[in-house]
Amino acid sequence: MKKYVTSARNILHGGDYNPEQWRDTPEVWEEDMRLMRLAGINEATVGVFSWAVLEPEEGKFDFSFLDTVLDKIAANGGKVILATPSGARPRWLAEKYPEVLRTEKNREKNIFGERHNHCLTSPIYREKVRIMDEALAKRYAHHPAVIAWHLSNELNGECHCALCQRAFRQWLQNKYGTLEKLNFTWWTSFWSHNYTSWEQIESPSPRGDMGVHGLNLDWYRFCTDQTISFIETEKQAVQQYNPDIPVTTNLMRGYFGLNYYKIAEHLDFVSWDSYPDWGAPWGNYHEASSIAFDHDTFRSMKKQPFFLMESTPSLVNWKSFNKLKRPGQNALVSLQAVAHGSDSVQYFQWRKGRGSSEKFHGAVVDHYGKEDTRVFREVAALGKTLACLDEIVGTMPEAKVAMIYDYENNFALADAQAFARHDKKYYLTENLIYKHLFERNVAVDVLPREADLSDYAVVIAPMLYLCSQTTIDRFTDFVANGGTLLATYMLGMTDENDLCHLGGFPGGKLKEVFGIWNEEIDSLYPEERVSVSYGGKTYEAMDYCERIHAQGAEVLATYASEFYAGEPAVTCNAYGKGKAYYVACRDTGELMDALIGRILAEKHIVGYAPKTENVSVSMRTDGENEYYFCENHGDTATACSLVGSFTDMETGERVINEVSLPPLTCRILKKDAS
Ligand code: GAL
Repeated sequence: MKKYVTSARNILHGGDYNPEQWRDTPEVWEEDMRLMRLAGINEATVGVFSWAVLEPEEGKFDFSFLDTVLDKIAANGGKVILATPSGARPRWLAEKYPEVLRTEKNREKNIFGERHNHCLTSPIYREKVRIMDEALAKRYAHHPAVIAWHLSNELNGECHCALCQRAFRQWLQNKYGTLEKLNFTWWTSFWSHNYTSWEQIESPSPRGDMGVHGLNLDWYRFCTDQTISFIETEKQAVQQYNPDIPVTTNLMRGYFGLNYYKIAEHLDFVSWDSYPDWGAPWGNYHEASSIAFDHDTFRSMKKQPFFLMESTPSLVNWKSFNKLKRPGQNALVSLQAVAHGSDSVQYFQWRKGRGSSEKFHGAVVDHYGKEDTRVFREVAALGKTLACLDEIVGTMPEAKVAMIYDYENNFALADAQAFARHDKKYYLTENLIYKHLFERNVAVDVLPREADLSDYAVVIAPMLYLCSQTTIDRFTDFVANGGTLLATYMLGMTDENDLCHLGGFPGGKLKEVFGIWNEEIDSLYPEERVSVSYGGKTYEAMDYCERIHAQGAEVLATYASEFYAGEPAVTCNAYGKGKAYYVACRDTGELMDALIGRILAEKHIVGYAPKTENVSVSMRTDGENEYYFCENHGDTATACSLVGSFTDMETGERVINEVSLPPLTCRILKKDAS
């Protein structure tokens, strides 16, 4: 069964288009249309930052440029993802209504400037956004080119103004009802911080409280909820004239300030902006694995195809080192997104502007302005490839393995004053464990901590410090019903309020499920190593070594150095019909790799292809047809064995049992019906 997220039935190829920057030279718009046709561009994301043009004075709207541009795109055969411009407000708005500007953590009010410098709570801001969105929707919700709404842009940050403080207190009252309950949950008797009135509550500030972890976590949740209610305001405004046009907002890799799983529940489909470090010293294959983890995370949020809303066709301008994508690499990594469930390949940006901070950011069309550039040619070639993939739209990868990656856990863990104080490496650990699956070409879903696990055979939960009763129940049922669960150090230390579980870690029933008790955790200096023996071989642990006691679990590996030598480092417990593995230390990689190999073998999970250096193979299916994506991220040609016979969707070439892969390429193969 296919899951279509917009009315498009082809892979969209396009991206951010800023024609408002070229209103003085409309011949550029004409040229854009010609170049878009040449580049196989069939989509443009328009209006992301055009508020000041659309409403130059309060209440005075001018849609002439959008009218022209949208009609031109439609005539060109293209589709439009129409943005609401709420990511950056016009000057008049901030000048007339200063409440719309953001207040920082230290309570300093910002002056006008940059983007996202506004308060999402401000009723005036919301009302002005609503008026603008409604006007856009009234005019364009039935425009033949418009297929989706792009709400705001990369929503992020927080505001600490008086309006936000008031809203936060109200949010807390709704959540806790009584101050007594709040005081208990936030453990405020610590340092005499008890609240005696709701008005005393202030958001976290370096000038006030930063160490009340319950406050910090609730503030994080409040910020997520404020963002959601802002999204809902925009969503209602744009969908009132045509509820069939879906909404999205572009999420970000590596942004941890909001709980994206929760936000995704309010979007019709997920989209995200991907700006990896291709060509970095750690190698493209490693980076590809890390990006695949992100693709899988964003896809898993709604378990449907997503959009790659932004990527650069060549280089970015904001990293310390802004390297060009190598020849072929744009197609390869764009197709990697499609391999993992994207139904679009979109760029920031179509054309380089002449001024301001993004003038040197990569674009399909350079300042040079013509089509005879390497980047343009490569984009155009990819456009041709994507045009062969219509039947893949709406199909999905199929995973039997899930990893738990939880945004609130990430927040609480980072906040904990313990372990490696400043960098617990949660995201990195997820990435490194994921790589063992990526290398084996095994499909993975990435889920939040309270997700339903019944579709999976294997679940891996690294560093899941924050475990609510729901999580404990999910894990217990999953193992009892025959699943294999692998968890690591720091499992189940606190509940959903970041209050420590009592009676020993991991909290509650998890001790029984894993058959262990975790007595204490040793945090090592970065260069220190502890030996671990497993299966007659010696491995190295680093960063964290927990001292656990097997209470029913079988001991698979033991520490071989330190004062805890001889004590368990890895255990396995049979529970109900399933198994629960516990890995008490962070190792340099080899031990985790061996354990994952063992678990996959036990569960008869085989990757789409055998491990092959620099190669990744993944698959999308509609339940009937299977589409294999074979990527070579290396600089040399290679080949990879595959089971069965296939047809290359681009060239029509037959492929049987082995696919040849030139350097930096992705081949897409449709498997023969069996
Ligand atoms: C994104 C943003 C775009 C552009 C791009 C540059 O984060 O949404 O507007 O700034 O980065 O890489």
